[in-house]
Amino acid sequence: MQSPDSISTVSEWIKQSQRLVVLTGAGISAESGVPTFRGSDGLWNSYRAEELATPEAFARDPKLVWEWYEWRRGLVAQTSPNPGHLALVELERSSPGFTLITQNVDGLHDLAGSTHPLKLHGDIWEVRCSSCSYRGVNRDVPLGQIPLKCECGALLRPNIVWFGESLPADVLEQAWADSEQADLFLVVGTSALVHPAASLPLVAKRSGASVVEINLEPTAISDQVDISLMGKSGELLPQLIAV
Ligand code: OAD
Repeated sequence: MQSPDSISTVSEWIKQSQRLVVLTGAGISAESGVPTFRGSDGLWNSYRAEELATPEAFARDPKLVWEWYEWRRGLVAQTSPNPGHLALVELERSSPGFTLITQNVDGLHDLAGSTHPLKLHGDIWEVRCSSCSYRGVNRDVPLGQIPLKCECGALLRPNIVWFGESLPADVLEQAWADSEQADLFLVVGTSALVHPAASLPLVAKRSGASVVEINLEPTAISDQVDISLMGKSGELLPQLIAV
């Protein structure tokens, strides 16, 4: 349970902020029913990342990798944005300067109405060619045709940043620059274990921003933030904008 004081302090900071940056992780989609990665129910507890989410895994067995992403796409397709996603849309509308950075690939921020989330780890609803520069939206992968092929003849792959791969440079550059300019930075539903995403709140902090974390439990960066709000993002975020 959160002290009303912390909620009203953060709420006041939000009202005063001129440059608000929000970084989200899998936790914000948990209340929508999308599995997180770590923790007892996390995907990486039941599946081996190195067999499913690396370029080597795709080269070895593209059909297996595609089947796993199809299963995840099927799960995500049955979900919808929760009050946490919707509160961030409200924040975007009411804040003079606002950037949403997400590690999530589920597309729920777009569906909620966030205008251009910076997607650090890609998008599960996009494919790209493993050889040429083709990239496009793809919501239906015909199961009989997995793995899909590009017009150039090479295999299409999910447009996801896999372990061992670099983040899209332009997206990371923008996220880094906006974090350096932030006066308030909210870190929502991430274990803050995967870098460079997890460095962004610390970049903001070093540049003078106040940093607030919203999570069910303490994380790798809890000792470096100004305020930790412990609870569900789908409950806390709406409270922050209602005060
Ligand atoms: P994790 O699964 O590592 O962490 C999810 C965090 O959300 C945990 O700290 C939970 O305590 C918290 N959480 C769960 N439910 C919550 C709720 N209702 N409200 C608030 N917090 C909640 O997910 P990420 O930190 O996003 O990479 O993982 C980072 C990256 O690792 C992912 O983007 C993914 C993964 O490998 C790629 O897909 C490239």
